[in-house]
Amino acid sequence: MKKNMKKFYQLTIAERLVRLKADGSLSGEDIQALSGSPGLTLEQADHMIENVVGTFALPMGIAQHFIINGREILVPMVVEEPSVVAAASFMARLARSGGGFTASTTASEMVGQIQILDIDDIDQAMHSLEKAKDELLEKAAQADPLLVKLGGGPRDIILRKIEDSPIGVFLVLHLVVDVRDAMGANAINTALEQMTPLVESITGGRALLRILTNLADRRLARSQCAIPVAALAFGEYSGEMVRDRIIEAWAFAAVDLYRAVTHNKGIMNGVDAVVLATGNDWRAVEAGAHAYAARTGRYASLSTWSVGKNGELVGKLEMPMAVGIVGGATRVHPAACAALKLMGIQSARELAEIIVSVGLAQNLGALRALATEGIQQGHMSLHARQVAVAAGIPQERVHAIVEQMVKEGNIHVSRALEIMDEWRTR
Ligand code: MEV
Repeated sequence: MKKNMKKFYQLTIAERLVRLKADGSLSGEDIQALSGSPGLTLEQADHMIENVVGTFALPMGIAQHFIINGREILVPMVVEEPSVVAAASFMARLARSGGGFTASTTASEMVGQIQILDIDDIDQAMHSLEKAKDELLEKAAQADPLLVKLGGGPRDIILRKIEDSPIGVFLVLHLVVDVRDAMGANAINTALEQMTPLVESITGGRALLRILTNLADRRLARSQCAIPVAALAFGEYSGEMVRDRIIEAWAFAAVDLYRAVTHNKGIMNGVDAVVLATGNDWRAVEAGAHAYAARTGRYASLSTWSVGKNGELVGKLEMPMAVGIVGGATRVHPAACAALKLMGIQSARELAEIIVSVGLAQNLGALRALATEGIQQGHMSLHARQVAVAAGIPQERVHAIVEQMVKEGNIHVSRALEIMDEWRTR
């Protein structure tokens, strides 16, 4: 099956779905969710947000060739931008030649903040809170006994004195909670509210904000790939040339704000597409990623690229990854359920490992194109495809016509029709 998948892009949508059903990746119900009234009924949508008047569909594609921690994974991606899915699949194939991606995560710890104002003696209040830590953690744990039963729950309390704010000095309490397989926003916010009266009585202060932070820097996902230099060669570019140019391109993002933001946007092309496909909160992941990129005080590239011991190209990506597989839309949205099933994952940590690997693949795809033939060349065949389809070229001829138009550098509806005519009269 995996061998046949190589030509997945050449199939019609219906044939792709048949194939996914045949190999057990999706059930008939999942297929209905993906191809039915755009993955979400009006009734389901009405339960998700307020004032619903409809649904809004985006394409879901499947990135192929991914091997992550030794496992073959079909990755669902929801994205409106052409080339993203193709680039992810292509780079996953390159990474395969070096064994694929090796990914890991830290504990699933999220942090919530309580802002405490109007404290007479902040140092004394900090001392009292430190002493009452166990009691505070116990109070917070009462908010979600199920989470505690599953092995998660409050882990630590960290105090921070904020001295240089526009309203003067105040205290911030950080509550660290292991949220296991949830994204964690609800677990955190409920725990914060649960412990607030105790915090106020210990400090004599007034708790104002009680909310999680999206800088999930205790919930990191990491991925790495090492690509043999021979696998990087193409056209007039040797493997060494491609490797060195990728590193030069990365160096630009390592030091320059204007480049770093675009470099990281390329990473987020892959990250967001999987976050979205699985019904997770992509704004939270975006916010966390960019804050993490600026954690040293200077916004920089989230990834690094270097030469390995045997001359291979080594890529690494580390970023916060606050995603869940329980709660929220992940279990309500039928297409998100199908997406999770397609990847065959059992935990939020596994999902995070896949997402960060796709982000790294996407980054490689962008750097490879930018540092060699330029990004527009890759876009050209997709554009040609759209033109061929717009010209009404029959499905079985699209591929050949695209190839010919790209070769000629003449991508127009009129040319697609001319080529068809030439073939007919031959
Ligand atoms: C476009 O969506 C993403 C890129 O701009 C990323 C990059 O420049 O690295 C190509």
